[in-house]
Amino acid sequence: MASETSSRKDDQLEIVLNGQVTFLDKSNGFDNYEFLHDATTGVEIEKIDLTTEFFGHKINLPFMISSMTGGSEKSTGINEKLAVVASELGIPIGIGSQRQALENNNYHNSYKIIRKNASDVPVFANIGAAEISLKFNRDDIIKIIDLVEADGLIIHINPLQELIQKEGNPQFKDFLQNLSLITAEFDFPVIVKEVGAGISKHAAKKLLDSGARGIDVAGAGGTSWAGVELLRKGEEKSDFWDWGLPTSYCVRTVSELKADYNFTLIGSGGLKNGFDIAKAIALGADITASAKPLLDSLSSNGAGSVIDLINGWFDTVRKIMFLTGSQTLSELDKTKLIPKKNLH
Ligand SMILES: Cc1cc2nc3c(=O)[nH]c(=O)nc-3n(C[C@H](O)[C@H](O)[C@H](O)COP(=O)(O)O)c2cc1C
Repeated sequence: MASETSSRKDDQLEIVLNGQVTFLDKSNGFDNYEFLHDATTGVEIEKIDLTTEFFGHKINLPFMISSMTGGSEKSTGINEKLAVVASELGIPIGIGSQRQALENNNYHNSYKIIRKNASDVPVFANIGAAEISLKFNRDDIIKIIDLVEADGLIIHINPLQELIQKEGNPQFKDFLQNLSLITAEFDFPVIVKEVGAGISKHAAKKLLDSGARGIDVAGAGGTSWAGVELLRKGEEKSDFWDWGLPTSYCVRTVSELKADYNFTLIGSGGLKNGFDIAKAIALGADITASAKPLLDSLSSNGAGSVIDLINGWFDTVRKIMFLTGSQTLSELDKTKLIPKKNLH
């Protein structure tokens, strides 16, 4: 019989795929910007190189597949296909929370299948801050890293989701202290991410001071996890449905910490096309990431359609780089954006 954790994951998948779980009255914030058109562009579009570096690995696009699933009946097939996409495109992939893998061995293959199909790209293990806050268990961390032969660990912080979830555990008192123990103990990189409510500059500073080497803002504007948990409870209305910091705000403000810290900034949360991706990079993201749009495409039309979707997004990014006079990813910076309120 499926455990409580496994059934919850399948419930969430069902609701994310079939429910209305987007933010109701809040966008990712990128629509507040326009690109600065460069009528004198000299960019050679065919020479644009989108490869970049990600924790010591060369990757083909500044993009990763965000952590989604594992540890349930439905997740094995999804993870297999997402891994094929990552391998085919030469991009990193995050695994869904491995809490279930620590509870029993029932669905270990749903996690292992990622490395089996993506032997040559960075793979990141995943666990929730709620688990880390309860106790720092060295063996558990080693177990989830080894299970998927991971290159690093993603820890998701989700206070809003834990607060709204019917079985949630909104206890994070010792999280930062335990994060420091993990980053001091292990050499692999630790990325901390939200799940759709965003990470502020203030919070990011505390995470970096605790040894995080990557911040994935996973801001508001895409999938509302308060929404997912409310629908699971059979509720449809709550003032918290739209809680969270828009992705553009998070990327812009967290990137200011680059003056003092060396870290990788991942811009994600509600990215829906190449324009959003290019704006996230221009505002300071090193790479970008996406979850639900990839899952939607996968479930309707399979792995090939996800590959086409991502390639299409980056075809748009190349065109934007051409039109803004950005030959390299580092030239696609804040100077290439204008806040729309200044366009008059
Ligand atoms: C079905 C599904 C399951 C998810 N499970 C996890 C998870 O286990 N761990 C995690 O860190 N984030 C999880 N997320 C959050 C995503 O990684 C991402 O941060 C969030 O959905 C916002 O990105 P989006 O707007 O592109 O969907 C999940 C998202 C989806 C859609």
